Amino acid sequence: MSVTAVVGAQWGDEGKGRIIDYLAQQADVVIRFQGGDNAGHTVVNEYGKHALHLVPSGIFNPNTKNIIGSGCVVNPQALLEEMNGLEAAGVSLENLWISTRAQMLMPYHRELDVLEEAARGKDTIGTTKRGIGPAYADKAARCGLRMGDLLQADWLETRLDNALRTVNRKLEILGGKPVDGDQLYATCMDYRQRLGARIVDTLPIVRQAIYAGEEVMLEGQLGVMRDLDWGIYPYVTSSNPTASYASSGAGLPARAINRVIGVVKAYSTAVGDGPFPAELHDEDGERLRSEGGEFGATTGRPRRCGWFDGVAIRYAAWLNGMTGLAVTKLDVLDTFDVIRICTGYELPDGSVITDSMPDTPVLFQVKPVYEEWPGWRRRTSDCRSWADLPENAKAYVARISELAGVKVDYVSVGPERGQMFEA
Ligand code: GDP
Ligand code: IMO
Ligand code: MG
Repeated sequence: MSVTAVVGAQWGDEGKGRIIDYLAQQADVVIRFQGGDNAGHTVVNEYGKHALHLVPSGIFNPNTKNIIGSGCVVNPQALLEEMNGLEAAGVSLENLWISTRAQMLMPYHRELDVLEEAARGKDTIGTTKRGIGPAYADKAARCGLRMGDLLQADWLETRLDNALRTVNRKLEILGGKPVDGDQLYATCMDYRQRLGARIVDTLPIVRQAIYAGEEVMLEGQLGVMRDLDWGIYPYVTSSNPTASYASSGAGLPARAINRVIGVVKAYSTAVGDGPFPAELHDEDGERLRSEGGEFGATTGRPRRCGWFDGVAIRYAAWLNGMTGLAVTKLDVLDTFDVIRICTGYELPDGSVITDSMPDTPVLFQVKPVYEEWPGWRRRTSDCRSWADLPENAKAYVARISELAGVKVDYVSVGPERGQMFEA
């Protein structure tokens, strides 16, 4: 039996979707434990190319139960659209379940996200505008609605009335239009009709899987640098993408997790605002973006690109308790003569730190300290084993592992299912 958490080790978009799709071939249950449709997890397999937003990345294995866990915020409209796209591609949704306890992301959350970003003036967070912040804020303020509320008509009506009392005031202050409660209630009834049979207490499914010694995977969204508590606050998402939250968001005891895989790109990317020390504004940055196809899977925004950040990976390894790394997109570096790795941050006073993460205002001021590695100048996308990799590529991956203090379990050299192997 194993319970594996798969988490992003950087600023998001590390390739979590492709890793889960690969590992889910052996998984009995895959649970998304936090986040909402801000996620864009790209999977390329025999069903084509899909950017998954809410549906767990185990959905392509018809034998895997896929659960949208209690720690998530679910926009039913976005979920229904995603389900239509998957069904049209021939993917079975028979094994897709939604926790009654997951929060329901309402149309007004999206509107508030847009209005709140506008109100921040030049100090934006660069959110995905999917309503994530406002939905988690309502959860914490105890005025959120949950997916299970759709199954209890009277309760839903009362909760909606309650929520709209403050929501409509907020919308008015920010220049939006008030929500018509009756209309929204009717929309909820439509969600109930289309999703109701999938909204269940997911705890018995998870508990049964653990008792039966099945393979369970916990799918994280985003990465540790955007974690609500440990990321670059306030330029973070409104939940915790670290493994410590995985058990809570999925409905497992903390000690049930026995494997944590940190997914890490062979270089760095970020979308949205905030400090990003290894960011490049030169030709190399452009080249990483074009070779790596670095455009957001959810918003299409060009991703900010930079060299690999060894300080961030050490921080991520500690916070997640990683047992292994999955290094992705190694092939993107194939054509570089020289590859750099950021091994330290120089602080404004000239000192260099390597093993701690400065808080956001300081992080804006640090200068990256680099070491140089020779490129391998050979195509790796055809490699199918560690032994196939060029020696310089092996040395580079070994350096990533050394900086993280974690062994490498998997290497990925292309987006397709077959382009991944054990290290
Ligand atoms: P996620 O959000 O962590 O699942 O990552 P995204 O799907 O947002 O971004 C990763 C992108 O890189 C997707 O377009 C993947 O298809 C692609 N990808 C994943 N692994 C590799 C790889 O090893 N090589 C290349 N070239 N592309 C990859
Ligand atoms: P996956 O799961 C990359 C970023 C946004 C913004 C910040 C807050 O595909 O890795 P939010 O909409 O969550 O309030 O935005 O987080 N962000 C992501 N960046 N990949 C994602 O998801 C992201 N989800 C949110 O750009 O900076
Ligand atoms: Mg993504």
